[in-house]
Amino acid sequence: MGKLDDKVALITGGVSGLGRSTARRFIEEGASVVIADIDSQKGKSAEEELSTLGGDVVFLEIDVTDEASQARVFQETIERFAKLDVVLAAAGISSASYVSGQINERSEDPEGNFLFNKSVDDWRRVLEVNLTGVMITNQLAVKSMIELDIKGSIINIASIAGRRPLPGATDYCVSKSGVIMLTQSLSAEVCGRGIRVNAIGPGFIETPMTASIRQSEEGVDMVMSMTPMARFGVPEEIANTALFLASEESSYFSGQTLFPNGGMYVG
Ligand SMILES: NC(=O)c1ccc[n+]([C@@H]2O[C@H](COP(=O)([O-])OP(=O)(O)OC[C@H]3O[C@@H](n4cnc5c(N)ncnc54)[C@H](O)[C@@H]3O)[C@@H](O)[C@H]2O)c1
Repeated sequence: MGKLDDKVALITGGVSGLGRSTARRFIEEGASVVIADIDSQKGKSAEEELSTLGGDVVFLEIDVTDEASQARVFQETIERFAKLDVVLAAAGISSASYVSGQINERSEDPEGNFLFNKSVDDWRRVLEVNLTGVMITNQLAVKSMIELDIKGSIINIASIAGRRPLPGATDYCVSKSGVIMLTQSLSAEVCGRGIRVNAIGPGFIETPMTASIRQSEEGVDMVMSMTPMARFGVPEEIANTALFLASEESSYFSGQTLFPNGGMYVG
């Protein structure tokens, strides 16, 4: 018996990093999974790889900043599986110029990425993907679950950055802080109907998003100094947290953000 037998899950950002690892974990526990992502090239290979685990998995292209694109993915998911029990919003970017899988050059100037040096367009881009994108996913998830009369679980990927200021990443920190409040606020609106909304605020995890930090001595030192366990987390540790929030084991949790972060203080 799997913990997610007969469940259907939709994961945005599902072809890489935390989303992909969680998709794998959910399939191992019996779920059918839709991995939705803007990266269609990786999408097909992720679908093939995850299919070998024996579950029903399908890739759908999505741009989380585009309401129509998100609506289409929800519609196709429900047409295919006739239900939707778990929605994980994991699509995200660390900065306006971030492209998953590419190493971002770290600025020589420590103040190069400070807020007063950033353009408003860059600010908008980060907020658009990380906060408005998650909000649209949440809206569609709640509407679908109400329509289908499903007491589902919605999980948003926030970050420790939603609680701790990281100089040079103010746009990212504000977007993730917004995700934490979105989670609390939406939960207050819908958990009385049996739809639970929670978030995960990971510390620094070994995914493409932290590749440039892990390649620089200064970046690794910064993470080690912030992390009492003195190591990066691995995606499986976040996938296990998501599994807990997706399953009945967390039946009395809603509006919470869990912080798998190696013991870091987040207030
Ligand atoms: N890796 C970490 O240390 C860490 C820590 C805390 C929070 N997070 C958050 O975890 C989530 C997943 O990040 P990750 O570390 O797995 O990085 P990742 O780059 O491996 O995955 C992010 C995924 O989001 C997709 N994506 C980006 N923009 C999109 C859009 N507009 N529409 C649809 N998909 C889009 C990318 O194609 C990619 O597959 C993000 O929200 C990130 O902010 C990561």
